[in-house]
Amino acid sequence: MSDNQDLRALVRTIPDFPKPGIQFRDITTLLLDPWGLAQTVERLTALAPEGIDLVAGIEARGFIFGAAVAARLGVGLVLIRKDGKLPGATVAVDYALEYGSDRIAMHEDAVIPGQRVLLVDDLLATGGTALAAARLIRLAGGEVAAAAFVIDLPDLGGGEALAADGVPARSLMAFD
Ligand code: PRP
Ligand code: ADE
Repeated sequence: MSDNQDLRALVRTIPDFPKPGIQFRDITTLLLDPWGLAQTVERLTALAPEGIDLVAGIEARGFIFGAAVAARLGVGLVLIRKDGKLPGATVAVDYALEYGSDRIAMHEDAVIPGQRVLLVDDLLATGGTALAAARLIRLAGGEVAAAAFVIDLPDLGGGEALAADGVPARSLMAFD
């Protein structure tokens, strides 16, 4: 089956969440399906380029897939969290969202300079979150080798924004 249509069918769409006009692509239904969860992790892992040293998972839904992909690749996981949640010294940046703005942070000593990092998140929309995560990794001396997402919303331009920043973005499926 092409374009992961089998997995795509397990994603639920909730209209007008969290704001009127947003079509929320809900992965909780995909997570509930044992086959869907396992296949998503396997296919996401297959999107990773060679030579990844570390996976970065973005809070909150990126933690689920990031941890599983890191374990399958045999590398560690760095948590990129909403600001104020990490206990150690952090680097932090502000970013814009499809429906608001936020600030994310990472432990400043989590990435060894020169490490090739794979960003993992559930969904790519404007790319604001992933671009901010890439800035954090680079601030710590890491190289952002690629970014892998379960879902891309191509109309919002995140893939182009990441490419312009030098980050190849790959995803399992797209929604209008
Ligand atoms: C969602 C999603 C991505 C981000 C994508 O996270 O999980 O992280 O938005 O949007 P962007 O490409 O426009 O930046 P959200 O901030 O809703 O957080 P959550 O995972 O904690 O629900
Ligand atoms: N994050 C940003 N936009 C989203 C959407 N439309 N559905 C689910 N998560 C999102």
